[in-house]
Amino acid sequence: MSAPPDDSSIPKTLDGIRDLYTGNLAEHGVNSKSVGWRDEATHLLRFDRLARLVNPTVPFTVNDWGCGYGAMCVDFEQRFGAAMTGFTGYDISREMLDAARAAVRTPGARFVHGSDVTEEADYTFVSGTFNVKLESTDAEWAAYVTSRLEALWAVSRRGLAFNLLTSYVDWKEPHLFYGDPRDFFDVCKRRLSKYVTLLHDTPLYEWTILVHREPGA
Ligand SMILES: C[S@@+](CC[C@H](N)C(=O)[O-])C[C@H]1O[C@@H](n2cnc3c(N)ncnc32)[C@H](O)[C@@H]1O
Repeated sequence: MSAPPDDSSIPKTLDGIRDLYTGNLAEHGVNSKSVGWRDEATHLLRFDRLARLVNPTVPFTVNDWGCGYGAMCVDFEQRFGAAMTGFTGYDISREMLDAARAAVRTPGARFVHGSDVTEEADYTFVSGTFNVKLESTDAEWAAYVTSRLEALWAVSRRGLAFNLLTSYVDWKEPHLFYGDPRDFFDVCKRRLSKYVTLLHDTPLYEWTILVHREPGA
């Protein structure tokens, strides 16, 4: 994957993405459509694949980067119960975070405004956060995704999982980013860890990558 000369368009793009999701929330309310998903079933299918990162026999904490209204926290509490001992969601939309604080009752859950992940967690998750690129070029966005993955990996003690729209499509929306899973598998393998799993096994036009620090971590 070739790197762009710089990433100066990214801050402006992020402002646009923030406004897009804040507008979605105003239009649709707290449901899967406001975070860009067709329905709740496909929303939860994404969490199912991401959740395969977790070894719940050892208690764990979570960073959810681009948490929206906190749907992952609710899902993971049901899925993992008391094994999940902490959950921190980050988002650039203050309105999404207000919705998360109102909707999520999980003990130990907190929601932080911004893009910078300030604290380590055992596992970091990214669901849908990289999908919208607006006017950025594919090369700029691929470099942005790669640099964010490296930064998120640095604060992930046991593992990282993320999803992207797939390049294996026959039609593309110009404002969305379609990642080639082979490129990002390579990025993860070369820059993050030896232990990388690619899942491209749902009817969604998306794939998920799981990265572990150690096998079974
Ligand atoms: C597709 S939605 C998914 C929300 C959530 N992950 C889910 O699946 O329910 C993406 C979310 O990521 C947020 N986001 C996008 N870029 C971000 C960034 N650089 N830092 C933090 N949040 C971001 C958006 O505001 C939006 O709420």
